[in-house]
Amino acid sequence: MAEMILIETHGKVGLIRLNRPAALNALCDPLMAELGAQLLAFDADPAIAAIVLTGSEKAFAAGADIKEMLPRRYPDVLFNDFITQWETITRIKKPVIAAVAGFALGGGCELAMMCDIVLAADTAKFGQPEINLGVIPGAGGTQRLTRAVGKAKAMEMILSGRMMDAAEAERANLVARVVPAEQLIPEALKLGEKLATLSPVALMVAKQAVNRAFETTLSEGVRVERSLFLPLFGTPDQQEGMAAFAEKRKPRFGQS
Ligand code: CAA
Repeated sequence: MAEMILIETHGKVGLIRLNRPAALNALCDPLMAELGAQLLAFDADPAIAAIVLTGSEKAFAAGADIKEMLPRRYPDVLFNDFITQWETITRIKKPVIAAVAGFALGGGCELAMMCDIVLAADTAKFGQPEINLGVIPGAGGTQRLTRAVGKAKAMEMILSGRMMDAAEAERANLVARVVPAEQLIPEALKLGEKLATLSPVALMVAKQAVNRAFETTLSEGVRVERSLFLPLFGTPDQQEGMAAFAEKRKPRFGQS
């Protein structure tokens, strides 16, 4: 069977390409298992500092695999913990950048939203069309889309299945920025390479702190931020970063 994901490394950046072109990268169980295993492998690999996840020019991913889901009934999805393995990506400690071209629909949009940073090609189209299948988003879409773009747009998209193009997604804060399609992978790798020069500990803790903002109140979030910020003064990277600034030189992070 063809590999469902393709792996490349570019310096300290691990690139994962979803590879089911005939099905527009529909996210079937074997693909999600391969993806989860590779994410964990990159996370554990000291030679990798950041991860880029992408699809094809036509589709980042057109959602969960509808043909795989069709015969499933409630006991199957309940006892087999359907969707649980999708959440591996949310446990990755290194920064994960989604590079989205073409369709990011249903579970594809949800997968992109589980990444830390979303870059979009000008060809990207985002949507939660599950309502057309008689269901609702099941991998966090009702929650993450609403937190990202607000109730007005999330409710319209989820109830009607309407797609957003890249320009609207940028205006609505669903993506960090839009780039010309041919620049998508170079830009994502460049961002990954930039992150790879920074303190791995500070990046990991920064992710945790920002993600906390989605989970808690402002005062509790600020308390969490402080509890993550202060211990950074015990790290070699804090000394290196501040000394390098004072000495007008480039810092060399992650040396010990
Ligand atoms: N699952 C399974 N197969 C899919 C698929 C999906 N989500 N999306 C596309 N495909 C397959 C098509 O069946 C087709 O295969 P065949 O050639 O064997 O017929 C192939 O990919 C190409 O697709 P189209 O011919 O439909 O391509 P198009 O350019 O005409 O349309 C599209 C593109 C608008 C994305 C359309 O394919 C589409 O609407 N796809 C389904 C999108 C969707 O509903 N996603 C949500 C899934 S449910 C979900 O994700 C649940 C969750 O929250 C976890």
